[in-house]
Amino acid sequence: FPDNDFLRQLPKAELHMHLEGSLEPELLFQLAERNGVALPYASVEALREAYQFSNLQDFLDIYYQGAGVLQTEQDFYDLTWAYLERCAADGVVHVEPFFDPQTHTERGISIATQLTGISRALADGQAKLAISSRLILSFLRHLSEDDAIATLQEALPLREHFVAVGLDSSEQGNPPEGFVRVYEMARAEGLRAVAHAGEEGPAEYIWQALDLLQVERIDHGVRCVEDPVLVERLIAEQTPLTVCPLSNTKLKVFAKMQDHNILQLLEQGVKVTINSDDPAYFGGYLLANFIAVRDALDMTREQAVALARNSITASMLSDDEQAGWL
Ligand code: ADE
Ligand code: ZN
Repeated sequence: FPDNDFLRQLPKAELHMHLEGSLEPELLFQLAERNGVALPYASVEALREAYQFSNLQDFLDIYYQGAGVLQTEQDFYDLTWAYLERCAADGVVHVEPFFDPQTHTERGISIATQLTGISRALADGQAKLAISSRLILSFLRHLSEDDAIATLQEALPLREHFVAVGLDSSEQGNPPEGFVRVYEMARAEGLRAVAHAGEEGPAEYIWQALDLLQVERIDHGVRCVEDPVLVERLIAEQTPLTVCPLSNTKLKVFAKMQDHNILQLLEQGVKVTINSDDPAYFGGYLLANFIAVRDALDMTREQAVALARNSITASMLSDDEQAGWL
C-alpha cells in the first residue's frame, strides 16, 4: 500500500488540467480587487461553500463566472505560476494543461494576452522548477464550430505557444461530430488532437472523437465501459484515457470514489492516467487524486507505478524525453 511520500516521489505527468480550474478562491479575490471586478460572494469562505455541484453544468456555471476576474497578461501568468508551484510540491515533472480561449475572448481579452502570460509562466516553470510543458488550446463545445474556427484562426499567428487542440465544456447534446472541420484544420497545421468524451456523454461520443476527430487521447472516457467493443479497441490501440477521479465524484459521474472504475480499467489493460481536471474546484491537485484513489480503492504500489508510468508514456514528450522518467 503506497504511502504519500512514495506517491509524491513517483515522477508524474499531468495531462488533463484546465488552467482556469486552478484558480483558487484566494487568488480569485485578489484578482477581482486588482481589476475592480465585483463578486457576488462576501468572502473566500462563502465562495468555497458555493463549490457544491450536482453535475457538470452546475460546475461550469461557477467556473466561467470565476474566470471573469482574469484580465491582464499578468493575471494569466499568476494563475499558471500558482499551478506550477503546486505541481512542484506534488512531484509532477511534466504538464499538458488546457486553456479555454473563448471564455476570455468573449469578454474582450485577446488570445495574445492570454497566451503570452501563460507561456511566460510555463517558461519559468521549466527554468526554475524543471517542469516541462506542452499547452493545449481547447474549444468550448457549447459554442458553434464557426466560433471554434474563428478562435483557431486568431490563435494561429501564436502557433509556437501550443501543440494541440482539445474540446471541453457541456458534453451532452454537443457531440464531437459537430467539430470535424475545425479538427481537420488544426491537424493540417500540424497540431495534435485530444477531446473530452465519455465523461457525462455516452460511449458513442468516444467513438466519434476517435474516428471523426482522430484524437490521440480521450479526456475522461470513463463511460467506455458501457461498450465492451470500444473497451477492446482502446486496449488494442493503447489509446490513453486521462481520468480525473476527484472531478468525477464531485460532479456525480460516480456517486462515491469506491464506485470509480479507474483500477478496473487499468487491470483490463486500458492505458489510464490520473489527473486533477479543475483542482481549485474539486478538492485537490494531482497527488490528492492519487491519495483519494489509494484510500478508496486499495491501490497497490504496482498500480501506482503503472499509473505514473502511463502518464509519461501517454504524454506528448518525445521518446527520448520520456525515457528520462521511465
Ligand atoms: N471544463 C473544465 N472542466 C471540464 C470538465 N470536467 N468537463 C468538461 N469541460 C470542462
Ligand atoms: Zn476536463
